[in-house]
Parts: sequence; C-alpha cells; structure tokens
Amino acid sequence: MAEMKFKELTEKEVQQIDKLQSEYFTKYMHLFDPPLPDGVPERLEKIVLSAGISGSDRVLDIGTGTGILIPIILKYEPALVCANDLSKKMLESVKARYPDVRTLHGDIRDLKLPQSSIDVVFVNACYPNIADKHRSFVNIRRMTRSGCRIVISHPMGSSFIGFLQEKVPFPLDDFPEDETVAMSLFSPYGFKVSDLVKEDNLYILVLEG
Ligand SMILES: C[S@@+](CC[C@H](N)C(=O)[O-])C[C@H]1O[C@@H](n2cnc3c(N)ncnc32)[C@H](O)[C@@H]1O
Repeated sequence: MAEMKFKELTEKEVQQIDKLQSEYFTKYMHLFDPPLPDGVPERLEKIVLSAGISGSDRVLDIGTGTGILIPIILKYEPALVCANDLSKKMLESVKARYPDVRTLHGDIRDLKLPQSSIDVVFVNACYPNIADKHRSFVNIRRMTRSGCRIVISHPMGSSFIGFLQEKVPFPLDDFPEDETVAMSLFSPYGFKVSDLVKEDNLYILVLEG
C-alpha cells in the first residue's frame, strides 16, 4: 500500500476553518448538554478505559468541548488533566465545573506545553475537525513522552461523520478505516497502532508512541 499523507491546507484555509468552528461550537454549546443519547455514557467509559490511565499520568484532552470526558478521566485520579479547545466559551464552562483542570485555549498544533510532558492524549469526536493534522501530530509527538497512549475516538461510530458532513459549515475528515491506513498515517510521527475497535456505534483507535 502506498504511504498515506494528511491533506495539506494553506495557512489561510486553516485559520478560516478554525474561526468557523470556534464560532459554531460556541453557538451550539447547548447541544453537548446532558442527557446524552442512549448508550453514549457507557461508550465514553470504554473510550477512557482504553487509555489505561494510572495515577502518575498527565492527561491532555484535545477538543474537549464542554468536557464530556473530564469527569470520567478524573475518576482515575491522574497527576494532571489539561483540556484544550478552539472555543474560549467551551473552556470557561469546563473551568467552572472542574477548577483543577488546566484549560488551554487554541489550535492543538500551536499548543506550547513542554516537550515530553504528556502521557495520555484523548481526541474524542474531534479528529475529523482538526484542520492541520500534519502540524498537530508533529506537536502531539513533541509534547508526549515515550510510552504515551493517544486515543482517537467517536462514541457514535465512524459512520456518524457522514451524517455530520452534510450539516456543518466546515470540512470534517473521515477516521482511518483500518489498521493499515492508521499505521501509514501515524508511523511517520513515531506512533504505532495498539488497538482498533470499529463497531456500528463506537470507534476507538489507540496509538502508542
Ligand atoms: C464535536 S466537538 C467534540 C467535543 C468533545 N470532545 C466531546 O466529545 O463532546 C469538537 C471540538 O473540537 C474543537 N476543535 C476543533 N479543531 C480543533 C483544533 N485544531 N484544536 C483544538 N480544538 C479543536 C472544537 O472547538 C469543538 O469544541
């Protein structure tokens, strides 16, 4: 199989997509309020479990939104939890409910956390949204230590993106469809596939680095 690469966008395109998303998610924040659809709370538990968080781990939740994963992550009592998002409003709501969580505003590709400072990264219902995946994964590699786990997931399954693509005013990419595609995309960044769950309503790709 030929090596796969993330699509390249111009700086202007990335900035336009980020602006559109920040405005969209700020406006539709209420859509993420409970009650969540049937089965989603249980599937979110599975997603967090798949990272194998231990007490010494430092965790980063990329595109945290209203912090849907945060209460589940906190149950594992990790050493540090950082939540990142493009939308300041989303982060304000996370901070109000979880004051001990460190909130970091901006595009993940630009985040300035120290080198090798993170053990576990969650990208839940956010991988399709990341406009500049190449620079984002270069930065994720820089911020994570050897032995880290990256969990890329969606609690409604990968096919849900097809439904969303027709509804939102910004592009959404598909999830890697199998292990071969995932290896080809992520091995250039120093990550290997450790697990892939692909069910009708659940997608979990675990990378190790
Ligand atoms: C569909 S929401 C999912 C939120 C949350 N993870 C959840 O599962 O409910 C996607 C979130 O990713 C954020 N996002 C999109 N691109 C991003 C990027 N490049 N860096 C950081 N956050 C991003 C958006 O602002 C939005 O809040």
